[in-house]
Amino acid sequence: MKNIVVFASGFGSNFQAIIDAVKHGKLHANIVGLICDKPGAYAIERARINGIPVALFERNTFSSKAYMDRAILNQCESWQADWLILAGYMRLLSPLLIQAYPRHIVNIHPSLLPKYRGLDAVGQALNQQERIYGLTIHYVDEGMDTGDIIVQVPFEVDALDRDHIEKRLHALEHVTYPAIINKLIVEECV
Ligand code: GAR
Repeated sequence: MKNIVVFASGFGSNFQAIIDAVKHGKLHANIVGLICDKPGAYAIERARINGIPVALFERNTFSSKAYMDRAILNQCESWQADWLILAGYMRLLSPLLIQAYPRHIVNIHPSLLPKYRGLDAVGQALNQQERIYGLTIHYVDEGMDTGDIIVQVPFEVDALDRDHIEKRLHALEHVTYPAIINKLIVEECV
């Protein structure tokens, strides 16, 4: 069984979907830990409830981003991680972390990349009166949301209602992300 480490900065609903998929036998992996950069993140509570080890790395306690990511890499190695799964982790990873896990770091982003990279993708799309929304799951490289695309799932909306769009998006994310992670892991094992 492959070991996955989830990275999250906030609410952690995608992290929860991954936990649930493992519990229900839909995702064949061990979640060996959560990496978090925000002490108040609800993702930490989800990890505690589910007995998943948490490692908190706060940027202001490191003299540089490279030092922080070196410490994160050490933690991932000590957990014997095979895959790093970014689920609402709102930081760019340093090259040393990316180079340590070639094509084994994936991210989910709430837009149809290359459109609307970076923060508040839905807000950016709304500002453009966008009618087609969707998610992208991609490998992580050194750019911001620029890595090779694994899958995209689009949907069209009739009204520019942020609440409605975000609900649809999250529901889609929670089904798609665990399934794609499982596919990547299973394909690697054959
Ligand atoms: C998700 O919608 C994810 O696609 C997005 O953050 C949200 C996290 O929600 N990620 C990005 O914007 C990455 N650039 P969650 O904490 O409830 O899983």
